[in-house]
Amino acid sequence: MKLSNRLNAINALITQPYDVIWDCCCDHGLLGMAILKRQIAKKVVFVDIVPSLMSELNVTLTRFAGSQSSSDWQVMCKDVGGITLEKNAKQLVIIAGVGGELLLKLMQQIIANHTQQKLAKISFIICSVHHTYSLREGLNELDLGLISEQIIVENKRFYEALHLSFESTTKITPTGNTMWDMSNKHHRSYLNKLLLHYTRMAHQSPQRFEKVINDYKQLLSIE
Ligand SMILES: C[S@@+](CC[C@H](N)C(=O)[O-])C[C@H]1O[C@@H](n2cnc3c(N)ncnc32)[C@H](O)[C@@H]1O
Repeated sequence: MKLSNRLNAINALITQPYDVIWDCCCDHGLLGMAILKRQIAKKVVFVDIVPSLMSELNVTLTRFAGSQSSSDWQVMCKDVGGITLEKNAKQLVIIAGVGGELLLKLMQQIIANHTQQKLAKISFIICSVHHTYSLREGLNELDLGLISEQIIVENKRFYEALHLSFESTTKITPTGNTMWDMSNKHHRSYLNKLLLHYTRMAHQSPQRFEKVINDYKQLLSIE
C-alpha cells in the first residue's frame, strides 16, 4: 500500500542501518512494513496496544513478509511506555501519529525504564499530532538532543518530525528554529495557523501563551 507523505518523510529520515527499528503506535503497521521492505534493519518490531490490530498485522506479516524481506520482524501488543529495548543493539524508536501529550508521556516512560548506557545507543524519530511546543519543552527537559527537524505538509495539515538522540548536544527549541523556510508558502501558512491557535489560547491563559506567541513571532525575523 502507498505510504502517505507524512510516513514517507519519516521513512526517508532513516538513512543508516540499524539492528532494531521499533514502529511504535503502529496501527496497521504501514510504516514498519515499508521499513521491512527496505531491509535497512536486522529486525523491525511493531508495537500497538489494540489486540485486534496486532493479530491482523501478525497474519499479514506471516503471509507477506517472507517474500518481501529477509529481515526479521516481531509484533507486540502492549503499551509503548512499557517496551524493553534490546541489549547491545543499535536501535531506532519511531513514535508517530499520536497526540503530543501522549507522545511525551511514552518517551518519559521509555527513558525512565532504561539505563543511560543503553539509551546512549538509541535514536528516536517522533512526529506528533498537535501540541509540539509543549512536547518540545518536555523533550528538552529529558536532555535529548536534536539530530534534525522538519515540517511535513499533508492534506493541508502540518506535522513536525524530529530525529533525536542523547548523543547529540544540539538543543531542542520549543519552536523548532532550524526547520523554517519563510520563502516556503506552506511554512508561512503553518506559522499563521500556530499564531492564530495560540492567540485563541491566550484568551484563556495569557501568562502561559503570550510567551509562546512571542517565541513564534521571533521566527518571522529568520532570513
Ligand atoms: C493514528 S495511529 C498512528 C499510526 C501510525 N503510527 C501513523 O503515524 O500513521 C495511533 C495508534 O496509536 C496506538 N496507541 C495509542 N496509545 C498507545 C500506547 N500507549 N501504546 C501503544 N499503542 C498506542 C493506537 O492504538 C493507534 O493504533
